[in-house]
Amino acid sequence: MPMQLTGVEVRVLPDADAVAAATAEIVLSAAAEAIAARGAFRLVVAGGTTPMAAYRLLADAEADWAHWHIYHGDERCLPVADADRNSRATDEAWLSRVPIPSEQVHPIPAEQGAEDAAAAYEPVVAAALPFDLVLLGMGEDGHTASLFPGHEILPGPLVMAVHDSPKPPPDRVSLTPSALCRTRQMVVMVTGAAKRPALARWQAGEGLPVARVAAGGSALVLLDQAAMPDTAGEDPDPERG
Ligand code: 6PG
Repeated sequence: MPMQLTGVEVRVLPDADAVAAATAEIVLSAAAEAIAARGAFRLVVAGGTTPMAAYRLLADAEADWAHWHIYHGDERCLPVADADRNSRATDEAWLSRVPIPSEQVHPIPAEQGAEDAAAAYEPVVAAALPFDLVLLGMGEDGHTASLFPGHEILPGPLVMAVHDSPKPPPDRVSLTPSALCRTRQMVVMVTGAAKRPALARWQAGEGLPVARVAAGGSALVLLDQAAMPDTAGEDPDPERG
């Protein structure tokens, strides 16, 4: 039975490498289209580990980098140089390797603390809307960006401060659904067996943050086979026995 999730298109790919390759291809074609139509490409990048393989592919790609504008979907309140900053990880995997003008790369100033950083980033996001493409991941609890189950998600602001995040560090800054869903395209990348329970809850119709944002953005959800819930009960590692 094909995987169905409410309000989104689902594409199941063999493995994480295939998800990375498909993501990189979508990013490059969305960029070419946006630059041809509007002279600029406004992209929101995802944090976490899942997108890194796609970013490494983009680092070796040919593109009209001079017209790219990069925004972050969320950030961790850590010093700028901290290895766990999404901005640093994305720079190292990709952005520092391509000639996107530095004034067009917009990290979230999360080192300032969640409230100040959210206030500082709000006008940056407001000036960029609508985005051309938003990239997102999904956590094992069904969070996306830094929008966590059980946390109040404010309808008005485009950017919000986050505290008591169940995923370290506790303080973060996140774009809200009001910002993330104002996009021409959205891609959610989900790989690995650890994501199965959350996908099963999403499939069952639970209003997880990822489900609400993805439906609001008419997302394309790229899964790998290992993440597929309907393989539940099958041992993800038959060799292990
Ligand atoms: C973060 C991310 C977060 C991430 C998910 C999935 O800052 O942690 O923005 O939303 O996308 O937690 O993380 P992985 O890709 O590492 O599984």
